[in-house]
Parts: sequence; structure tokens; C-alpha cells
Amino acid sequence: MKIITIRDAKKIRGKRVFVRADFNVPIKDGKIKDDFKIVASLPTIRFLLRHKCRIIIGTHLGRPLLEINKLSKEELLEKYSTFPLAKRLSDILGRQVDFASDATGFAVESKIHEMKEGDILLLENLRFHKGEEDNNKLFARRLSRLADIYVNNAFGVSHRAHASVCAIKKYLPAYAGLLIEAEVTNLNKILHPKKPLLILIGGLKMATKLQFIKKLSAKADHILIGGAMANNFLFALNYEIGQSLVDKKDIKLARSIADFHNYYTRKKILLPIDAVVKTGLDSVSTVKSINHINKNDIILDIGPRTIKFYAKFIKKANTIIWNGPMGKFEDNSFKYGTLFLGQVIASRSSGKAFGVVGGGETLEALKMTKMLEYVDWASTGGGAMIAFLSGNKMPGLKGIVKR
Ligand code: 3PG
Repeated sequence: MKIITIRDAKKIRGKRVFVRADFNVPIKDGKIKDDFKIVASLPTIRFLLRHKCRIIIGTHLGRPLLEINKLSKEELLEKYSTFPLAKRLSDILGRQVDFASDATGFAVESKIHEMKEGDILLLENLRFHKGEEDNNKLFARRLSRLADIYVNNAFGVSHRAHASVCAIKKYLPAYAGLLIEAEVTNLNKILHPKKPLLILIGGLKMATKLQFIKKLSAKADHILIGGAMANNFLFALNYEIGQSLVDKKDIKLARSIADFHNYYTRKKILLPIDAVVKTGLDSVSTVKSINHINKNDIILDIGPRTIKFYAKFIKKANTIIWNGPMGKFEDNSFKYGTLFLGQVIASRSSGKAFGVVGGGETLEALKMTKMLEYVDWASTGGGAMIAFLSGNKMPGLKGIVKR
């Protein structure tokens, strides 16, 4: 594998560099709840600062176009403007980060014209422009006019063919940022694992994760399934799952794993043997064996026997990848499956096994255990990590990462 990184760029001193970042962080009431992705971009920014570049950063934040007909212009700006990100980046770096109230256009170009070596400018949300998500060439050209060099540091969005990660590479010399380099290098170790390879997968979004399971099933020694993902598999095996979250389409998908039954019988694919359930809205939670779920129950976490059963496999693995919670971990009564297994993975990582964790909710859960620092790599990509490991096309990496 060859990665063409910003270190390969010649004569970058003083150049205008467009850095496509993924600063898509959770913000509530104007306050950033977690700046993990901003911090992950720092090595690239610091590298460019050492070379006295003029740094122009572009990012998306949320999906504002989905709400364009529902919210007023002011409401859209309040919810989706990247302005608070400039302030946070400035606080972390301890230096001024300027803000441009659009991503392209004359006013932005003149602002950039005034920039001095080492200045940093953050652009307004790229997704305020329809051309971004359409991978529109004209929009990409307009972005390219802002800089001499393009750096993709947005691993989290590199599975999307969007103008600022894909089309723009036609118009500027393109390089991978140091975050992309680290993501790709670490995720590649999952594709060439030291065995046994263990996958822990949960949460929703069955379709993409199933592709991932299919792709890695030959390589993996054990695939442990929890969360809403497990409901689909249990249903496909004719277990009663009551009122638990399940998608009929996904059940078909679950059944479509050609070797699923075979894998399940051979304990390559493992499913919960008990669950924490509640019945009706006001009821208290109880633990039930997976054979005893009744039609009014809602499965909201894996049970204690499943935790113990899964932990045994995690403790023997030499390579581990985890994506997706085991239950509704944001609710105190249903957090234990996710948090306990998170702790087991973190303690098995850093030395004993190579452990990678990715996905917004998964990282949030691991942070709750205060053990995030023990995993070997915390990926900034959720969907992007799954897409990369599934061998899908990665438009943002095309031309800069040769697999
Ligand atoms: C993410 O948060 O996973 C990335 O920023 C990509 O966001 P998207 O799914 O809205 O493209």
C-alpha cells in the first residue's frame, strides 16, 4: 500500500493549502460536546504550520440540506454554522483562527489574499452548498481557486463522493493528511491481522455492517453480535424478539449471509444468550434467557451471561475491531453490556492485542469507561471505517492511497 502524504509535497513553504477536515462534531445549544475529531486533525495542522503554510480548512457539519425547507436561514445558521469550530480550534492551538462566512466566492478569496504565512482560516459549512454533496465539478473548481495544494484529512467522509473530497482532486495537487495516513495504516492491520481476529459489532445500520461481516467472515475467527443487529439475526433464526427494534428488510439481509447457519453452528458468529428486557413503557428491566423473550418484551441490552460468554473470546483475541453498542447504553439501566465489553476490549488492547474501535456512539461509550486511551486506534470514521474494511470504493482516497 502506498500513501501519498503531505510529507511528499515539494516546496510547500508559504503555500496556500486547502485542508478538507472532518469536524463533524456533536454540538448542543451552540456548545461542542466532544472535540475528538478536531484534536485528531492537529498533527496535520501543526505540520503545515511548521512549514509556514497559509491554511484554509473546509469541513461539513451535519446534513443541513435535509432541513433546508424546514428551518429559516437564521435557524440553519444557528444549527449548522461552523463558526463555533473556529473558536474551539483556536483555543486548542492557542492561536488565532479566522472564520469566513462562506466556503467560496469573492469575499472568501479576498480574505485568503490577505492571509500571511502561518495564518489559519476556517470556511463556513461546505454542505450549505448543494454542489458539495453532488460532487459538482463547478463547485470543486471554485474551492480549488482558494489554494495551491489540496490535503484530504477527512477520513470520516472519504467514503462519500463529495466535491471537497473527490472532484477537487482534479484541480489541485492532492495529498493525504497525517490523519488519513494513520487511519489507513492502522485499519490495514485489521485486514492483515495477527490471529485470532475478533469482531464485535452492534448498533443499527444493518445493511452496511452486513457487507462488512460478509467481507471479513473468512478472515475473522469470531464475530460477536449485539445491539439491534443481533435482533435481526435472532429473528432470522425464528427466536421470539417481542417488540424489539428490528427492520424487516434487515431480516432478509441477515438470512442472506450464505454461510450464516454454518458459521452460527460452528460458533464463528455468536449471538446473545440472554438479554436485559423491559415490557411496556413503565415496567422495570429484567434479565431473560434468549429462549424466554415474550411478545411484549423489548430487548435493550445483552445480558450478564452473554457478557461473560463474549468476554472469554475477547480475552483470547490478538486483533480486535469493535463498532456499535450492545444496547441502549445512553440509558443507565441498559449500559452494562456495552461498557463492560468496552472495558474488556480496552484492557486486552495496548500490548496484548491490537485493538481498534470506531463509530461515534462506540467512542462515546468507551469514553464513559475512561479507558479510550488504552485502545490502539480510535477511528474518526464510523461509516468510513466500515466501508474501508469492507473493501468498498473510497472516493476521498482515490489517487492518494494506492491499495
Ligand atoms: C461522520 O460523522 O460519520 C462523518 O462526518 C460523515 O458524516 P455523514 O454521514 O453525514 O456524511
